[in-house]
Amino acid sequence: MRVAILTSGGDAPGMNATIRAVTRTCIFEGIEVYGISGGYEGLIDAKFEKLVQSSVADIIQRGGTILSTSRSDRFMTEEGLEKAINSLKIFEIDALIVLGGDGSLKGANKLRERGINVIGIPCSIDNDLAYTDFTIGFMTAVETVTEAISHIRDTTEAHGRANVVEVMGRECGDIALYAGVSSGAESIIVPEIETNINEIAEKAIMGKNRGKRHHIIIMAEGCGSTFDFAKDFQELTGIDTRVTVLGYIQRGGAPSIFDRILASQFGYLAVKEAKEGNSRVLGFKEGRAKAMTFEEMFEAKKVFREDLLDILKTVSI
Ligand code: F6P
Repeated sequence: MRVAILTSGGDAPGMNATIRAVTRTCIFEGIEVYGISGGYEGLIDAKFEKLVQSSVADIIQRGGTILSTSRSDRFMTEEGLEKAINSLKIFEIDALIVLGGDGSLKGANKLRERGINVIGIPCSIDNDLAYTDFTIGFMTAVETVTEAISHIRDTTEAHGRANVVEVMGRECGDIALYAGVSSGAESIIVPEIETNINEIAEKAIMGKNRGKRHHIIIMAEGCGSTFDFAKDFQELTGIDTRVTVLGYIQRGGAPSIFDRILASQFGYLAVKEAKEGNSRVLGFKEGRAKAMTFEEMFEAKKVFREDLLDILKTVSI
């Protein structure tokens, strides 16, 4: 049997740990494994290379992806899709394992609809896939943001200022929410909940009146301009307000322990599912890695953790 693996879309810490788990499980099971470089672009251009045990040595702790990645416009065309399928046929691949986020798993489904056996593994710092509790890379990004905010907090406190910290996540507020709870940020602004600037301003003024010298607001990138918000907030409160856009720092770095363990579970399960001849997406539910159908993925509706927001509002005052 032959399996191929690719990483697609935005890289996520833990992709390498997943590639390692897939490769080593394949070899253990007597399955040949090929790495495709450059995501769907590389699939179209048949950039296959056989992986052996040592190909994935010393990568469990590394961010990024040794296979490299891309956001492929060509794969969205009929011609690109045909070429991709052709590459899989030339290399006689029995199953393709795709590591990526929302768009990448939708791409995997296109191949499945054409009769290719595909296993999708959710990798994205955004945690915006509804069918799984967590995507690989998310918890690492939350840790990176939390660490960055502890630095920002020191200088904010020293000056008696406010700081609006912009985080990634596309249309999903999970990075802001989880990092808000773990960093003790006073307020978060997320696309899922309507923003009430007066409420945030009142909280800051009350804090200031109690002698508090810092106010951290985490704003998800899907909520518009952090600079405009900071300007309005400063005008309302009179508190000197700065902006920090964390940007790509959130995508790199060593994966957290949680992400390494998640990656190992997903990589192992992906090979088992491929061996069975299944086409599935893998998710993390009730503390375990689980294989689900693509239909289940499409039907799932993302639920924003309002319970966590309530905790934040109660304890970060
Ligand atoms: O999906 C991951 C992500 O980092 C998002 O949070 C962000 O909006 C986007 O990718 C940035 O994409 P690019 O790397 O193409 O600039």
